[in-house]
Amino acid sequence: MSFRKYALITGSNSGLGFGIAARLLEFYKPRIEDEPETFTIILTCRSRAKAEDACKRLKELFPERKIRLEYVILDLSNMQSVEEAALEIKARYPKLDYVYLNAGAWDLQGINWMQAIFATIMNPVKALTYPTFYKEAMGSTSEDSMGYIFQSNVFGHYYLKTRLCELSVLGSSTKVVLTGSLVAKKESLNFDDIQCLHGERPYQSSKRLLDILHYAEIESGLPYQQYLVHPGLCTTNMYQTFLGFIVIFAKLGFWLCRLLGSPWHTVSPYTAAYAFLWIATQSHIEDENIKWGSATTMSGKEKILPTSIELVLPSDKTKSMTYMHDLYKEWKHKLNVS
Ligand SMILES: NC(=O)c1ccc[n+]([C@@H]2O[C@H](COP(=O)([O-])OP(=O)(O)OC[C@H]3O[C@@H](n4cnc5c(N)ncnc54)[C@H](OP(=O)(O)O)[C@@H]3O)[C@@H](O)[C@H]2O)c1
Repeated sequence: MSFRKYALITGSNSGLGFGIAARLLEFYKPRIEDEPETFTIILTCRSRAKAEDACKRLKELFPERKIRLEYVILDLSNMQSVEEAALEIKARYPKLDYVYLNAGAWDLQGINWMQAIFATIMNPVKALTYPTFYKEAMGSTSEDSMGYIFQSNVFGHYYLKTRLCELSVLGSSTKVVLTGSLVAKKESLNFDDIQCLHGERPYQSSKRLLDILHYAEIESGLPYQQYLVHPGLCTTNMYQTFLGFIVIFAKLGFWLCRLLGSPWHTVSPYTAAYAFLWIATQSHIEDENIKWGSATTMSGKEKILPTSIELVLPSDKTKSMTYMHDLYKEWKHKLNVS
């Protein structure tokens, strides 16, 4: 009898997504060396070149194995691309066991350095866990005329998973994992501007919306399992793209926070992927209503911690569900999907 598992990871050419892929491959190795691989990892990337490079780097990590790595092109900021990816996944795979909705964008535009230095001196752990000194680009829109960060971080994934479910690629045994963040603060989301076209914090707004949606969806019932997980804080391209070589100072700051007792400074994407692997390997997780986080001890020992989320009102859940449901219907219509 063939027993195969399939894991889809969006945005897997770098950072956390690459870390999740590496950890899954490490964990699901064949018990006997020459036994065939039973695990297929499907990377999604924005270009063929990025996907092929990621496959090559993953294969180099496991040179002894004939690992099954495949990819699908997906740009979440383009709904046509999301629809095409859903159809391609349906055509190529009988089912998905794990769906890591990891891809995410953060359009960092600047840093208030005075504030950053002062806040870090006064309370480094607070400053580097819940930073307030970043300036994000405001009002960026996609070619689909939606808030760019909203579409990349929330709606693109919402559409993808809902379509995959309609196409019967997701079922009761599928674990869908949403990628949350510690910075999902209540005040960052304005229900009159759900796509955050006018707000100062589109990234935080998108992550707060994700938290609310998760709880709303769990409450209303889903035909698959869904978990909300965050990676703590690790230095990835999200930081590197803006900071360049200064990212080394961010990394040093993160190490310092860990030494000062912060459980959330996972620092490396590999450690940050711990909770994501944990979700996959648990045969039964009692409660989908917990936001799980990758964490470490001071000495770097990995652990899982539940994370508190700020109060979600029933009306928040209703508004966010209705908004996403209507937008989904609108886009299916625009894309001529019956
Ligand atoms: N790093 C942290 O400390 C941290 C903390 C909390 C949460 N997270 C979350 O972790 C996830 C991964 O982020 P990361 O830190 O690993 O950053 P990263 O290294 O920049 O990786 C982000 C991935 O998402 C892809 N992506 C971005 N926008 C996309 C779009 N519109 N369509 C398709 N793919 C897109 C990127 O593709 P390209 O390479 O083509 O840009 C890349 O593969 C994100 O959801 C982020 O919010 C990270």
